[in-house]
Amino acid sequence: MISRRSVLIALAAGGALMMSRRADYAAATAALWSHRDPAEFMGLVHYATLGANSHNAQAWRFRQTSEGVAILPDMARALPVADSDHHHLYASLGCAAENLMLAAGAAGRSSAMEFATDGDERIEIAFGQSGSRDRLFNAILERQCTRSDYNGHPVPRADLSALEVGARVSGCRVVVIEDRAKIEQVLELILAANTAQVSDPAFAAELRSWLRFNARAAIETGDGLYSGCSGNPSLPPFLGRIMFGAFFKPDTENDRYARQVRSSSGLAVIVSDRDDPVHWVQAGRSYQRFALQATALGIRHAHLNQPVEVPSFRRELQSLLGLGNRRPDLVLRFGYAQPMPRSLRRPGRSVIAT
Ligand SMILES: Cc1cc2nc3c(=O)[nH]c(=O)nc-3n(C[C@H](O)[C@H](O)[C@H](O)COP(=O)(O)O)c2cc1C
Repeated sequence: MISRRSVLIALAAGGALMMSRRADYAAATAALWSHRDPAEFMGLVHYATLGANSHNAQAWRFRQTSEGVAILPDMARALPVADSDHHHLYASLGCAAENLMLAAGAAGRSSAMEFATDGDERIEIAFGQSGSRDRLFNAILERQCTRSDYNGHPVPRADLSALEVGARVSGCRVVVIEDRAKIEQVLELILAANTAQVSDPAFAAELRSWLRFNARAAIETGDGLYSGCSGNPSLPPFLGRIMFGAFFKPDTENDRYARQVRSSSGLAVIVSDRDDPVHWVQAGRSYQRFALQATALGIRHAHLNQPVEVPSFRRELQSLLGLGNRRPDLVLRFGYAQPMPRSLRRPGRSVIAT
């Protein structure tokens, strides 16, 4: 028979194990989010992989070239349901490229970037001699996607202008939305698109495969979406999957998103002139710069991409924002909040292409 004493001992042991796993996770993130030598190829790869990326799938590989670095898509890590046209995959490569070029600048090198389509599609970055350290480089180690409720405080006008200027790259810009009535209209699209996604079993299955329900699973894979980063409890994987099945429902998810949007200071939409892979990469660069500039100003942000991921809602968003033929690429909320636990990455050697 199981005695009360043995239950208490088992609970205490479970609690101690969870605490030690959390400590391991904190140590792993502290080691990851630290500086390397940007003058070395592996140092540049390190900074590139700290870029934001869809589902933290890290669908990228890096090759040293005679002129600099090539960044290639890793289609084995693509998201066929949430990102069937690979828009987010190329935007994620753009995030990596932006960080890599900022790191090259910190090592005194200038960068010229182009999207090559001869043979394999890839980003080619060639280095020159005349680079300088950009203030956004310092924010690379502090940036994170913060998926908590914010405190609703307004962002000063000068900081909003700095965000708009900071996010400008050729072919893309950011549209900032502060008007509460307009925010409610965009929120309506977010919730409708979210309902469509959450109700799709294929979408739920793909998302579940990238969820890491506890620190141990997150450390083992070095990728995916760790529950702790979103403020969710750590669970054994089998229990995590059961709980996900029980709680991943349109109403629960929509309530959370509505609360999060209403607690934010505003929304920002990255918009590009054309809808092709070259501009998807540019949209990623623009977003990464937005995120770094926000970080430098103490402003947090998170994604709400449901209406750009479902094509019919993307067209509605395009028309609501009066964008004409320009593509809304990414939808973000921003505001003020405490930091959340950081995300992990795979080791640099796993992302080197030969
Ligand atoms: C193109 C792109 C799309 C993303 N879409 C979402 C999204 O829809 N929802 C979300 O919560 N995070 C989204 N993210 C954020 C990633 O999940 C996040 O960057 C990743 O988990 C790593 O975490 P970190 O940015 O905090 O390091 C997206 C990021 C990128 C670059």
